[in-house]
Amino acid sequence: LIGLLSSVIKCSDVELLAVTIATDETDGFTRYAESADRYGIKHKTFGMGQEWRGGDIARFSGGGHKVNILKENLSQYEGRTDLIIMFTDSYDVVFTAGSEEILEKFKKFDSNVIFSAEGFCWPDASLKEQYPEVKPHECRFLNSGGFMGYAKDIVEMVNYKTINDMDDDQLYYTKMFLDKTTREKWRMKLDTKSEIFQNLNGALGDTTLKSKGDHSYLYNMKTGTSPLIIHGNGPIKSEFNRIANYLADGWTTSAGCLSCKRKTISLEGLKEDDYPDVQLSIFIDQPTPFLPEALEDIVNQDYPKKRINLFLQNQAEYHKKDVVSFLESYGDKYKSVTVVNPEDNMNTIAGRNWALEMCLKTKCQYFFSVDGHAHITEPTLLKSLIEQNRTVIAPMVCRPQQYWSNFWGSVSDIGYYARSADYMDIVAYKKEGLWNVPYMNSVYLVHGSLMGKLKDAFTRQTVRDADMHFAENLREKGIFMYVTNMKYFGHLVNFDEYPTTHLHNDMYEILRNPYDWEKKYIHANYSSSLAENADIAQPCPDVFWFPIVKEIFCDHLVEEMEHFGQWSGGKNEDSRLAGGYENVPTVDIHMNQIGNEENWLHFLRKYVLPLQQKVFLGYFHDPPHAIMNFVVRYRPDEQPLLRPHHDSSTFTINIGLNNPGVDYTGGGCRFIRYNCSVTGTRKGWMLMHPGRLTHYHEGLKTLSGTRYIMISFVDP
Ligand code: UDX
Repeated sequence: LIGLLSSVIKCSDVELLAVTIATDETDGFTRYAESADRYGIKHKTFGMGQEWRGGDIARFSGGGHKVNILKENLSQYEGRTDLIIMFTDSYDVVFTAGSEEILEKFKKFDSNVIFSAEGFCWPDASLKEQYPEVKPHECRFLNSGGFMGYAKDIVEMVNYKTINDMDDDQLYYTKMFLDKTTREKWRMKLDTKSEIFQNLNGALGDTTLKSKGDHSYLYNMKTGTSPLIIHGNGPIKSEFNRIANYLADGWTTSAGCLSCKRKTISLEGLKEDDYPDVQLSIFIDQPTPFLPEALEDIVNQDYPKKRINLFLQNQAEYHKKDVVSFLESYGDKYKSVTVVNPEDNMNTIAGRNWALEMCLKTKCQYFFSVDGHAHITEPTLLKSLIEQNRTVIAPMVCRPQQYWSNFWGSVSDIGYYARSADYMDIVAYKKEGLWNVPYMNSVYLVHGSLMGKLKDAFTRQTVRDADMHFAENLREKGIFMYVTNMKYFGHLVNFDEYPTTHLHNDMYEILRNPYDWEKKYIHANYSSSLAENADIAQPCPDVFWFPIVKEIFCDHLVEEMEHFGQWSGGKNEDSRLAGGYENVPTVDIHMNQIGNEENWLHFLRKYVLPLQQKVFLGYFHDPPHAIMNFVVRYRPDEQPLLRPHHDSSTFTINIGLNNPGVDYTGGGCRFIRYNCSVTGTRKGWMLMHPGRLTHYHEGLKTLSGTRYIMISFVDP
């Protein structure tokens, strides 16, 4: 009779109420509630603020607490047949449609209570055979993370028996379903084809994301259905989080990132004093290439420094001078400065924990963490992250031209990196958006409201990197980490194998960090010589002149040579050469003496060869070969000039390393056959001329000061 009564009621006459349980307002719960709101689903939450007594149910049995909370709260709906109650879990559930569609599908079941189904018989596999058989592509077993039915039946069901908080809720409902009497009493059915509910554990491969305009949904390829409520049950939370980036109309192929536009805040129009308080925490864990540039990028953030408390931990003795110079230049611009130096002997984990604690104590509104190897070149980065308004958010930064980034798309069962289906597209900016990820590092913003939950968040029992501990702890606490690639925000440098034995170690990074090397050392106008109709200077016949390196390169090279200090005597006997004899000796130091030969050959290939091809057409030798690469020093009282000679090269390059008229007077190069001299050589500019036959030349006398040039005999 009860069944009949219910089944005659039309769905248009009934109302849908979604109910859930959440003891904590986790990010997962917020996602659930937002998706319900998005589709106008009326929803109620029970248990908020209570201590959870249901155990770790994603991995073990338990969850009876959920039934008991429902018992306490659903009695108000007792006996009602005009109300459909839909229970779902909340931390791992997303709606993708509204009440009308849900009720429509419910009606088609012609049933009073529908349970979601899954492919695992959990928690008691021995009950397997008691289940009604289903078609091979359908799911046979009950899952208690999603069910719906008339309020009358649901209330009866949850009150049918007593259950302990630690008992298993799924087993509780399973027994009712397997018992023919109760199954028929409440006209229970399982949603074996995922018409309404999709449990994803064990079914990830059966489903695919789809979108139409600005609506996204999941499609079950096995059953041909588009389920409306998606549940990331069991141990697949990270993958579910990834899928949920798209669901609830978060990201679609044609509309792109829709979730990025939601929940944002704006700092526009704020007076400087009203900007949120930020604790900028800089961590220099090891010798790191291009650190001064990284610090400069931080300084260039477009954010009032007087609203920033600066915390800086430097563990590298090597960078003490960089830190001092940074603090001397900018320290007093920040609201406060706290520095941990190498001699404080604080490790990475302790330093980061301390920074968090400081943020908690000072009630900072945001914790902005930047590692020394992150270059945040976009000045609006900090503002953008604040405005995106998420609990934890990182800008995507990658090693240039590589798929090495500061986040993981997925995480393996043992907590290490795993690649997600969309990782490559995100890194390549083929998909731009806001991505909930299981791990991020190097640069991120944490909302100040989380500080209370993050005491010692960089510590764990396991011995892994601090950032892995941090991400693992956040995942366990249900705190979402987002990565945004809505803009190009900056990049990472590679600090592996960074040498610290030279004076200017960045100069040695052309192979490991080509992007930063070029930015630091290659002349701003270098590529103008490569343009189609480039106007290339030709001060003497077949002597070409190009801007090639920045002044800083010249300074570093000269200083490196002087630091090394073993200038040759300018004698004909030269033990550095294979034959032991130099016909036209200079006072010089070879690149291989300072360990820079391999880098220099790369420089010749990458930067010199293209220029050579512009001016000496038809000659192409790749890679360029050179065994004589050296810096020459001319001084009036040492070696002031070089007598006329040919070079043993196909062509020679000659880069001016300092300024005539400033660092020295006199000097220059005279090409005898043409009676033509280049005297006003320019710092950072390269002369290129044939070596062996036509361009018989001499080094003109340096009259005062010291003149330095860098020479290579290319293709001897
Ligand atoms: C799965 C089933 O879906 C679930 O119904 C069954 O009880 C055990 O197996 P799963 O979804 O993986 O569980 O677990 P999880 O999402 O971690 O927890 C279920 C729900 O309980 C949460 O979504 C949330 O609604 C509630 N819960 C859990 C709390 O309110 N507080 C907690 O501390 C933990």
